[in-house]
Amino acid sequence: MVKSHAALSSLGKAHINYHAYDDVENMKRFDSESFQQYCQSKLDSCDKHVKFIKEHCVNNNASWGGNIVEIGSGNSKLLINLEQSGVLNSAIGYELSESRNRFAEAFCTHEGVSCIENVCGDFLDGEVTGNADLVIAVDIVAQLVSPTNPEAENKMLDWIYNQCKKNGFALFELWDFEKIKAQLALSEGKLNVWEAFSKEDPFEFCLATLSETGERDILWQKKFLKRDSTERSFFEHVLRPYDRDDFCQLLKRVGFAQTIVYEHWNDDQNGEAGEYIVLARK
Ligand SMILES: C[S@@+](CC[C@H](N)C(=O)[O-])C[C@H]1O[C@@H](n2cnc3c(N)ncnc32)[C@H](O)[C@@H]1O
Repeated sequence: MVKSHAALSSLGKAHINYHAYDDVENMKRFDSESFQQYCQSKLDSCDKHVKFIKEHCVNNNASWGGNIVEIGSGNSKLLINLEQSGVLNSAIGYELSESRNRFAEAFCTHEGVSCIENVCGDFLDGEVTGNADLVIAVDIVAQLVSPTNPEAENKMLDWIYNQCKKNGFALFELWDFEKIKAQLALSEGKLNVWEAFSKEDPFEFCLATLSETGERDILWQKKFLKRDSTERSFFEHVLRPYDRDDFCQLLKRVGFAQTIVYEHWNDDQNGEAGEYIVLARK
């Protein structure tokens, strides 16, 4: 079920985004109880994505075959939820971070799912089959890939388009940076934001510091404070802000026939602040 790309160690890719998630969801920080609770909370958090995918992709495609590819699949929670929901026949999740890949392996075993292949490596090194009913890039993955080098944005969108079969879908979840950009303009180009996590999470708080970098991108540095401990963990990544129309134009340029922007995952749910969804069809 789990495959490691031998290529990972020889990627030679220097951009900080390739290593930003290196220690995330390290199994060493979980015991059996916290692991189970954490997994359940992560599965629950995907119900909105699964409901959306059923409504807009599965029920909207007479030839739905259940072949799904996820880029930046993290702990594979969404793929697991999709398999358990009966809409997935086979899936590949590409994830750069070895710690997240190991977590995904343990998570899949724990849930007893069998149709998900967790690949540890860059999705751009993955085989393009042109057989996917759906390619998923949720939770800022696209915004994380684009800044890594000048060709990354085009390569990513071409790869996703070519991975889709005819009438297949590509699903993106993106953050809207308009408010952040406005706040940056008011705070001399540097912004500090605190976040608190739910009690299942080994980390209690995160302090995020945001600043503009280059012409298009935003450097996002995070300091995590562990629960009931003085332990700290740091990481930083660079994200590319996308305007809704501009992102749809990019998708059309690589060949997608149709793009729709949704402000939240389901009609009965309020969207996360500043998050939007783009569904493209080949
Ligand atoms: C913000 S996280 C989202 C994880 C997951 N999709 C979720 O919703 O929880 C982005 C993930 O994308 C991974 N990633 C970034 N660039 C990647 C690439 N080129 N190939 C595979 N994974 C990548 C990162 O390691 C990170 O785990």
